[in-house]
Order: sequence, then structure tokens, then C-alpha cells
Amino acid sequence: MTVTDTATLVEDLAATRQRTLDLVAHLPTADLERQIAPIMSPLVWDLGHIAAYEDLWLAHRHAGLDLLRPDLAALYDAFETPRAVRGDLEILGHADALEYLDAVRDRTLAAVERRGADPVLHEMVLRHELQHTETMRQAMAIAGLLPAGEPRLPGSGPARPADAWLSVPAGTHALGASDDRFAYDNERPLHAVDVPAFSIARRPVTNATWLRFVEGGGYVRREWWSAEGWAWKEEYDITRHEGVADGAADAPVCHVSWFEAEALARWRGARLPTEAEWEKAAGRLDGVGLVWEWTASTFGGYPGFRPHPYREYSEVFFGDRYRVLRGGSWATAPRVATTTFRNWDLPERRQIFAGVRLARDPLSPEEPS
Ligand code: AVJ
Ligand code: FE
Repeated sequence: MTVTDTATLVEDLAATRQRTLDLVAHLPTADLERQIAPIMSPLVWDLGHIAAYEDLWLAHRHAGLDLLRPDLAALYDAFETPRAVRGDLEILGHADALEYLDAVRDRTLAAVERRGADPVLHEMVLRHELQHTETMRQAMAIAGLLPAGEPRLPGSGPARPADAWLSVPAGTHALGASDDRFAYDNERPLHAVDVPAFSIARRPVTNATWLRFVEGGGYVRREWWSAEGWAWKEEYDITRHEGVADGAADAPVCHVSWFEAEALARWRGARLPTEAEWEKAAGRLDGVGLVWEWTASTFGGYPGFRPHPYREYSEVFFGDRYRVLRGGSWATAPRVATTTFRNWDLPERRQIFAGVRLARDPLSPEEPS
């Protein structure tokens, strides 16, 4: 890294921190410290975790220092301390968490001064903080605590049926990130995949379309649901989608689970795009970056995957449970939301800012478009 790059990095770290602090500036201590939902951490846990992660990777691993607070390491380790119990622990309170953030940052800056920046570790830590501000917004959305002006989900005007679908001919796609820039381990290695011809919707599904699905028996008609999705719906007695009615009719639907997204697609005679289809078409889609877009793909390593720099970033989530989301939401920092970035969550989850973009196999020539 050149000196100029290091200076930019230091500025970016400061700007990211300001963004984090601004997000919670309007919240009273009680709201920061309470556990909002079993699947979400108390907001103050995220703050302490951001500090602990920075200390681990930049002061300890990069600069070789002892941890500033070894006593806190386990509490702020996402694996040792699952979300559901974070509310019961002796984690740092509001003021102490802010102080911890500051103290760690002082060490980070001193270490950068002494040893320069690591192009991977510093970028990873910066994006980690950006990613956690989205997680914090999910909790804040559940509790009705988002700052004024959020969520930012504008309507996009009337649909233009003539170019509602983009047709993509069969061909290969170079899936993943090239080696010339920062990317997460799960985006590598870049590799060629064959992608048969497909069509993909120009725009994400809107609230208006979702309401038509609901009114047309979306939560009642068994045939649109997978067995697993139907079982989830029955077990939790899910009969509608709260929140859809509050959004603008022409804004993308948000907070839908993968199970619901899949059912809506079947209702439309469509399906969810695969990751490769999504990434191949990404440059020509409208409305990317408003809501995460569920894909049909489960989260796994690309052929030749190597965990870097730690297994718990991606690899421990690989398998047939987690589904991949692409694109980014209104709450995702642009630095994180690259075209090759892979997000993942469980198919029943609705706390993420996730919507649906439809895909389908090409129409046969005799079918009307
Ligand atoms: C990529 C959003 C699924 O929140 O679990 C945060 C990002 N990794 N801390 C998550 C992450 C470690 C991750 N997601
Ligand atoms: Fe984290």
C-alpha cells in the first residue's frame, strides 16, 4: 500500500466510525442496551463487537499487540456467544462500549502509523463495521427505532411492460471476483460457469404485486409453496405480510423470507434467479441496491475455495440451509454492495431488507411474451 492509500484508509475509517455513531446518536441508553428480538443482538453488543473485531485483527494480528481487553474476547465472539443470549450477559453498557471503540481506535491508528496498513485486513475491518450498521438497522427497524428518513425505499414509477423482462442468451459467465481488488474469500476463485438462456425481471417485485399475490390466495394455496416453506408458514401461522401495505405501491417489497419469495415466484409462473444468472445480468438491471434479492442458490464455496482469513467468515455457513442474497439494500454501504458480494441468511428469515427479483426460463417461440 502506498502512503496515499494509507492516508485514505485512515480517513475512511474515521468516516465509517462517524456513520456508526450517527446511527445511534438519537437512541436512549435503554434502547441501546435492551435485546430487541431473540434473533437480534442488543445494539450495544454490536458496538462492542465492532471494537473487539478491530482490536483482534488490526492491533493483535496485524501489529502483534496483546488484546486490549482479553476478558471481553469471548463475549464479543459471534460464535462463542449466540445472539439469543447476548441480552443476558455482562457486556459493556452504552458509555463503556463507546469508550472501548475509542480506545481500540487509538491503537489502530498508532499501529498504522508504525507499520502501515494491510490491504486485506484493514479493508475487511472497515467493511465489517459497515456490515454491522446494516444489522443494527435491522434491529432498529423491528423496534421502530430507525432514524428519521429511513427506510429509504422510494417507489420507482409505473412499470413499463414492454421491457419488463431482460432476455439473456446462453453463454459462459466469469463468476466471482478477480484478484486485483479486495473481495471476501467466498467470492473467489473467479471461475467460468455455463449459464443457459434465461429471462430476468428488470425490476424487483413491488408491494402492489405482493398484495395481488396475497389477495389471490398467496398464503392459502398449497401448490405455490415448497413442503418446507408450507411447514414454516403453518408452524408460525403466517397468513399475510405485515409491512407490505405500509410501503409505496410501486416500491420494492421488503422483509420477505426466501420461502415467501419462492411461493410468489411460483404464483407468477416464474422462479428465483440463480446466483450466476443474477451476477451475469447485474449490469443491466434496474433497482439494484434497494432491497437484497434472494437467489435460488444455497451458500457454498466456489470450486477451489480457500478460507481467508478465518473460517468463520463464510465456510462454517456453507451447506444446504443458507440461501444467497445479492445486490444490497438501501441500508448497505456502497463499499460493501459490489456486484460479486454474496450475502446469506436462512430461508425463514424476514428481518433482513430482502425482496424478490423474478427469473424464468426463456419463453418458447410460440408463447406470447
Ligand atoms: C455477510 C451479513 C451474513 O452478519 O453474519 C458480520 C457479516 N460477518 N460479522 C453476518 C458479518 C461477521 C455477515 N453477513
Ligand atoms: Fe461481526
